[in-house]
Amino acid sequence: MCGIVGYVGNDNSLDVLLGGLKRLEYRGYDSAGVAVLDPHGTLHTRKRAGKLKVLVDDLATTPIASGSTGIGHTRWATHGGPTDGNAHPHLGDGGRLALIHNGIIENYAPLKQELLDAGDTFESETDTEVAALLVGRAYRETGDLTEALRHVAGRLEGAFTLLAVHADQPGVVVGARRNSPLVIGLGDGENFLGSDVAAFVEFTRRAVAIGQDQLVTIRPDSVEVIDFAGNPVETSEFEVAWDASASEKGGWSSFMAKEISEEPEAVANTLLGRTEDGVVVLPELEPLGDALLRDIDRIIVIACGTAAYAGMLGKYAIESWARIPVDVELSHEFRYRDPVLSDRTLVVSVSQSGETMDTLMAVQYARQQGAKVLSICNTQGSSIPRESDAVVYTHAGPEVAVASTKAFVAQVTALYLLGLHLALVRGTQDRARLQKLTGELHDVPAKLSKVLEASAGIPQLARWMTDTQSVLFLGRHVGYPVALEGALKLKELAYIHSEGFAAGELKHGPIALIEPGQIVFVIVPSPRDPKSLHPKVISNIQEIKARGARVVAIAEQGDVDAIQHADEVIPIPLASPLFEPLLAVVPLHVFGMELASAKGLDVDQPRNLAKSVTVE
Ligand code: G6P
Repeated sequence: MCGIVGYVGNDNSLDVLLGGLKRLEYRGYDSAGVAVLDPHGTLHTRKRAGKLKVLVDDLATTPIASGSTGIGHTRWATHGGPTDGNAHPHLGDGGRLALIHNGIIENYAPLKQELLDAGDTFESETDTEVAALLVGRAYRETGDLTEALRHVAGRLEGAFTLLAVHADQPGVVVGARRNSPLVIGLGDGENFLGSDVAAFVEFTRRAVAIGQDQLVTIRPDSVEVIDFAGNPVETSEFEVAWDASASEKGGWSSFMAKEISEEPEAVANTLLGRTEDGVVVLPELEPLGDALLRDIDRIIVIACGTAAYAGMLGKYAIESWARIPVDVELSHEFRYRDPVLSDRTLVVSVSQSGETMDTLMAVQYARQQGAKVLSICNTQGSSIPRESDAVVYTHAGPEVAVASTKAFVAQVTALYLLGLHLALVRGTQDRARLQKLTGELHDVPAKLSKVLEASAGIPQLARWMTDTQSVLFLGRHVGYPVALEGALKLKELAYIHSEGFAAGELKHGPIALIEPGQIVFVIVPSPRDPKSLHPKVISNIQEIKARGARVVAIAEQGDVDAIQHADEVIPIPLASPLFEPLLAVVPLHVFGMELASAKGLDVDQPRNLAKSVTVE
């Protein structure tokens, strides 16, 4: 959700803030605003509903004074619609304090009443303004911005990252966080704050993550972190693994086009350095201990959205290779249903951002219940890895387009690595087979490049479908999560009603939806595997064709049955069954993007969505 950036230094803070907001815009894009302190201690704010560009154009037409201290915000509305008035910053202390916020203040109603009773008036419908007015009042009492924010943060319930500046304290930005992200960027004579490292990676790759219930005060030459009780906190620095160019479009028409093109690389980088003598080694699992890895009797994968579909694929692989039962749960369902956990349960969270609130809460819940948590995550310095017992990073690089693509294949890769490592530790597969499987996983990037080459006809297919109202996706076994992912991408990007079904379920309901002209994508398993479900899926194609459906099959190269029965075939290279989904999903990513583009939609920032869902 909302993107946050803060800066103190010698530069024109407005340029730094707008640059940071541009990189964070994927977090929220219904309004944006900035507050800048000029050298005379005057606070200048500007905020506008709409995408960041509206604010940038407004500032170009009517500039505000420059200064070396400032905060900026891109919003994803929760309390109050996306209007100029509800955009951040919000003001306190008679307009001398500006505050921005990511998250939801759950107890804002009684606090608002308290402020109304005390004579305050409100300019907006947001929960954030409550915090701004409270910090303003606390500042009048304490005369210190850090103390004022600390005082108020302790009273707030829910999730929040807050940044504040005060006209009396030029050269100071103060931040606080609970269940919502905030990272420090360490510069030379300048320091930064951001919702994630993208906010400042253009200027520095030295970063420090801030823990739960902590406050940070940045000045040009110092950074201080304390907890909500006021005690100093020790921090540790890390180096951001990618540079600014990795989070730029680099000539592509959209971030999504670039990120889909990076799917082979995302898999290759996630595999890098994780194989020894042909088998998988994951030293990152050491904090869990080999004894636990041998003893676990159950794995529960928790995730949301696309990451949950990656988890479903992980289930097939881990059960098959390591013979451990795996359940996959949506994070928001998991923690509200009294799940059965023990010290032999391994909970595996999967999250690109490492900030999805529901997943973060589920991780905290699982650990409170005595389970160990391993996180699979793409974002250094994010909250979920910090709250986990161990972390395996996916190295997909920064993902900016809101709908996840390259992170998905990297997540599947990481889960497969986990399955292969567990199989080694538990001795469920002999070494030769593990080497063969590991080799196949290493072949995936090159095959993905071929899939992308073979996807050249998809734009034409998409143009032909721009008036389509509904698309179904069918798959069996590992083709089922692929069908779900294909349907999700089409909903998210092209706003077309789409559903993914397990093909075996067809006759139990979905077939009633088939009428002449209905478009159905079918993920066809390889015919070469003796245990393959290929004949059954080909029968499904015939059943829906007989009722007038138009079938687009994603099928192995040279699959004569698919060619005979489907209207269109998108070929994928040969692979054994568990590796097919990594190949089959890519044409569906391309299709979702191309259909959205053909409809003239913004594929990077679909309506109503945000990339990091940091509210429940
Ligand atoms: C949002 C994004 C999805 C993503 C999901 C989970 O809904 O739009 O693309 O799959 O969150 O995000 P995570 O960061 O936890 O993987």
